[in-house]
Amino acid sequence: MKLLIDDANIEKIKKILEFYPVDGVTTNPSILAKAKRNPYEVLGEIRSIIGEEAELHAQVISLKADDMIEEAHIMQKNLGKSTYIKIPTIPEGLKAMQVLSSEGVKITATSIYTPLQAWLAAKAGADYAAPYVNRIDNLGANGVEHTKMMQDILRDKSCHTKILAASFKNSYQVQEMCAYGIGAVTVSPEIFENLIKNSSVNEAVTAFVRDFEKLCGKGKTMKDCM
Ligand code: E4P
Repeated sequence: MKLLIDDANIEKIKKILEFYPVDGVTTNPSILAKAKRNPYEVLGEIRSIIGEEAELHAQVISLKADDMIEEAHIMQKNLGKSTYIKIPTIPEGLKAMQVLSSEGVKITATSIYTPLQAWLAAKAGADYAAPYVNRIDNLGANGVEHTKMMQDILRDKSCHTKILAASFKNSYQVQEMCAYGIGAVTVSPEIFENLIKNSSVNEAVTAFVRDFEKLCGKGKTMKDCM
């Protein structure tokens, strides 16, 4: 399962990249608004930090298919052909996805709340379908179960679309995605820490150091205990 950062804060992205095995960065217009800078400037900087091989996802703003298509072309020109263009999964978006996918543009179908939206996005040629797990929970439904149903629908051999699950409120939801073979998750910096935070782990690691220092002396390691 691919692991992406759902943020546009340069410092937070750099900090996560230092420690975690990450496959790319996703943004949306609200995330870019928080950065309070020109969107192309921020996205260009993210691209230079993550490198050409990593995934970068950025969203169109237009609501009409023709405008979405034009916007996607301009975004690709400025951000590179490997950029995934996020398109809202509304009827105009499905129209744009069909045109853009036939041109070979990489597409992430976004704003997905229902399995039928994911199915339609797949039929329209999207590379990823991005369900909003936590936002589905907030509608009184089960975001994890909805996403699993989407995965079951997309498991069809003829379908190349993968799930890119988004909008998480805790690490358990992410674990559920891992266990179900979801294609990718995008996680906020706050949730990243929770993927591995565990006081028992810290206690175990501290005890190993303490016991070794009892044996060999303070500050000693396997580098210098000969
Ligand atoms: C990603 O595609 C979504 O835009 C994003 O993850 C939504 O997350 P939120 O519900 O935490 O805002």
